[in-house]
Amino acid sequence: MGERRDVQVAATSPVLFIENLHKEYASEAGPVPVLKPMTLKFSRGEMVSLMGPSGSGKSTLLSLLGTLEKPSGGRIMLEGEAVSELAEGKLAEFRARRIGFVFQSFHLIPTMTALENVMLPMLGMRGVRRNEMRRRAEELLELVGMADRLKHLPHQLSGGQQQRVAVARALINRPALVLADEPTGNLDRASGLNVLRLMLRLKQTLNMTFIIATHDPEVAALSDRVIRIRDGEVEADQRRPVEGR
Ligand SMILES: Nc1ncnc2c1ncn2[C@@H]1O[C@H](COP(=O)(O)OP(=O)(O)O)[C@@H](O)[C@H]1O
Ligand SMILES: [Mg+2]
Repeated sequence: MGERRDVQVAATSPVLFIENLHKEYASEAGPVPVLKPMTLKFSRGEMVSLMGPSGSGKSTLLSLLGTLEKPSGGRIMLEGEAVSELAEGKLAEFRARRIGFVFQSFHLIPTMTALENVMLPMLGMRGVRRNEMRRRAEELLELVGMADRLKHLPHQLSGGQQQRVAVARALINRPALVLADEPTGNLDRASGLNVLRLMLRLKQTLNMTFIIATHDPEVAALSDRVIRIRDGEVEADQRRPVEGR
């Protein structure tokens, strides 16, 4: 049985593969391990919840996956490319094209409209015309239910609406991977659920992989897979049956 499953996994090569990925921070007492060597595969179109107590290493793992921080060792393969071997100069564009980020506190630019915020990650891209950028941003804002708020500034939007704009921004370059760090953490329950259902719908429509660090059991309940980490180690990794959702 186990062998059979391995064969299937190999046939549908993972969008993201991490191997012995680990991170230590230096301290006076010597290196402090924050993530112990971790090996995981993520499939295309999978929505994964990353759960665990505060300080267990969820944000650290997302930062490593997002190439925002360098691992102490190990390997990250995203869509067949060895991320860890990319030169610093190539990394920014790689990140902008392949990875979308959603943060707990939205991180929208306060002086830019919803439309401008969504267009922002595309501005540095070669080979995309401004008209095309605008069209894609409008399309995404429509997809997240914000078509009638294109010209609004962040402070004119509710928290839930701001997070919808942030989700649209994360998707603008059609990344393979979307990383979200406690995306519903600053929202009331109804808005949180709304944003979550939106992400679920998007990952189905766009076949992107979502990895979401969360404390929210409702996020976990809607995910395809729940990874629990504790003290920088994977404690459990469970896939949910589809009929359970
Ligand atoms: N830059 C840093 N320097 C030293 N220790 C850090 C740094 N960033 C995070 N840590 C430590 O790593 C551990 C995991 O943190 P974090 O990944 O933020 O956990 P979580 O997101 O699960 O709450 C914590 O003990 C934290 O104090
Ligand atoms: Mg965190």
